Amino acid sequence: MTPILSVEQLRVIFERRSGAHVAVDRISFAMNPGEVVALVGESGSGKTATALAIMGLLPDGGHIGPGSAVRLDGQDLLAMPERKLRDLRGRRIAMVFQEPAAALNPVMRVGDQVAEVAIVHHTDDRRGARQRAMAMLERVGLPNAAALYDAYPHELSGGMRQRVMLAAALLLEPALVIADEPTSALDVTVQAQVLRLLLELQRESGTGVLLITHDLGVVAETCERAMVMQAGRIVESASVDDLFHAPKHEYTRELLEAMPRLRKRA
Ligand SMILES: Nc1ncnc2c1ncn2[C@@H]1O[C@H](COP(=O)(O)OP(=O)(O)OP(=O)(O)O)[C@@H](O)[C@H]1O
Ligand SMILES: [Mg+2]
Repeated sequence: MTPILSVEQLRVIFERRSGAHVAVDRISFAMNPGEVVALVGESGSGKTATALAIMGLLPDGGHIGPGSAVRLDGQDLLAMPERKLRDLRGRRIAMVFQEPAAALNPVMRVGDQVAEVAIVHHTDDRRGARQRAMAMLERVGLPNAAALYDAYPHELSGGMRQRVMLAAALLLEPALVIADEPTSALDVTVQAQVLRLLLELQRESGTGVLLITHDLGVVAETCERAMVMQAGRIVESASVDDLFHAPKHEYTRELLEAMPRLRKRA
């Protein structure tokens, strides 16, 4: 099977005033079509940097080191002109950002932002895109989607904004969705609902999901396989069963041990 995503020797460097900082240090992994894989690891370990590098959306000051390769459907994204990348983004690969407030356009109605995905990819005319967006907003469980369609991002709660982002990412049923902490701003019941939706879509349209999360409980419930990141490296990659029952790396053991303690504190 050709992997939907293959990442080879990916290196991400941020230029800081204090010097160059290697956020992702030559990581390699592949995902099969329709696979749900978790990327876990402590804060600052390089999870978001990995996601943004794959999407071609690193912020200013961040760049990908030589010798890296990122292939989607076998095509090298790093060698691709921006115009072609833009065509893939939203249609074949989409991302749910960790910070929905930063990713949404503050002066555009949220429904139109979702519909825009279909319009730029010419999959629907304006009316069709509006209908498709409305249906997806309902599907992600946005209460009263019809009324909220015309709202601006600042008029929504953090959880609602996260669902709008999810709707935009899932709209065209891409082959791969990278979801960066997609449930962190949501309360527990809504979290479960959003994850169920992601998995429903994965089953129905064969969408692969790279799920970035701190929450090992979420990993246990949703993923087949998990990769553990620490200081820019993947230190362990295993089936979720193996990882939970026989963690090999000291850091994975620490993460697992920290889990019930965090739960109790919460
Ligand atoms: N725009 C930036 N400029 C400079 N350094 C950055 C930038 N973004 C991230 N970094 C650095 O890169 C490293 C990895 O950051 P990243 O955001 O990928 O962490 P993360 O694993 O997603 O953490 P979290 O779980 O808190 O979201 C960190 O050391 C961070 O300080
Ligand atoms: Mg992050």
